[in-house]
Amino acid sequence: MASLLQPAISLSCSQFLGKSLKCSSSPQSNMTPASGSLCVRAGAYTDELIKTAKSIASPGRGILAMDESNATCGKRLASIGLDNNETNRQAYRQLLCTTPGLGQYISGAILFEETLYQSTVDGKKFVDCLKEENIVPGIKVDKGLVPLPGSNNESWCQGLDGLASRSAEYYKQGARFAKWRTVISIPNGPSELAVQEAAWGLARYAAISQDNGLVPIVEPEVLLDGDHGIDRTLEVAEKVWNEVFYFLAKNQVVYEGILLKPSMVTPGAECKDRKSPAEVADYTLKLLKRRVPPAVPGIMFLSGGQSEVEATLNLNAMNQSPNPWHVSFSYARALQNSVLKTWQGRPENIESAKQALLTRAKANSLAQLGKYTGDGESDDAKKGMFVKGYVY
Ligand code: 13P
Repeated sequence: MASLLQPAISLSCSQFLGKSLKCSSSPQSNMTPASGSLCVRAGAYTDELIKTAKSIASPGRGILAMDESNATCGKRLASIGLDNNETNRQAYRQLLCTTPGLGQYISGAILFEETLYQSTVDGKKFVDCLKEENIVPGIKVDKGLVPLPGSNNESWCQGLDGLASRSAEYYKQGARFAKWRTVISIPNGPSELAVQEAAWGLARYAAISQDNGLVPIVEPEVLLDGDHGIDRTLEVAEKVWNEVFYFLAKNQVVYEGILLKPSMVTPGAECKDRKSPAEVADYTLKLLKRRVPPAVPGIMFLSGGQSEVEATLNLNAMNQSPNPWHVSFSYARALQNSVLKTWQGRPENIESAKQALLTRAKANSLAQLGKYTGDGESDDAKKGMFVKGYVY
């Protein structure tokens, strides 16, 4: 019964969003909902949040996700034979953050906490390198996944404790947006419990981020794992986004000041019935049109283990006609894979690795504008990167 009511509730909330935003500029006074209705809170940072989200969702630009935890960054470094230590992580992040011209294609960069507080070897803060390129620095704030008791071997995402004070500190350090990634597994259910927990956690995080001046990226990743067809992915994704918007509304999150990071709607990685970019775009846009209010400024997809070229082709297919939102990318693997392979940890390869980053960023910028052709891509860029049970 409750779930039948949910779409209606989230729709009516978004409909009077504009009116509620005007009701007061004081965070405190807006904590009280208007009598008998859901009221969207307009906190001290509302105007800034809307501006930040708009600048990240600007034409021909998307997000570079470079927020791998130290453990995951270690896996990336190991793939090119490097030790996982602070010096090597700094060298790699320096390469990414100091690529001249990157800001033409990249509007935001998600950092891990270590990187937010790190500098180049010459002592220039990474956040300043990014700002010079007109790239907004962001921060991964979730504390990772742990088993969810009572579920079907599923997980939940930690990190709400102390989030408000951490977010305030990140803002002082220059971060203007945040990311919280939780996952949904199709082969493991997904259970009602796991979906509700994922949606609730994302909504609490989003409200806390907005209270502290950070635009929340809302990322319930529907994992590629499984042999299910594309229709099953659509069904699960609809359910997930339904719950997410229901709880975002309940937590009085300002939709104009968030960004979404969904998975594209594709068949499971082990499904034999593969789909073309046009079909993936068709399913994914159907999902978004059914579930995402046009007040949301940007949809920044994750790549999820697709090859670099596949992720770019799919994004391009989604931008063949106008959308109500900016439809773009927030890729980690699909932007970084060829960079790492080119770099190999050698100083003499840094310039060509920066070029490799610009090549991928430009390809996705063209895809955001619907103008990517896929011509001239290497075989490496076409190789899938799916890892079963992937941990970010
Ligand atoms: P991938 O693009 O590698 O799936 O990473 C997405 C992500 O969540 C990073 O923020």
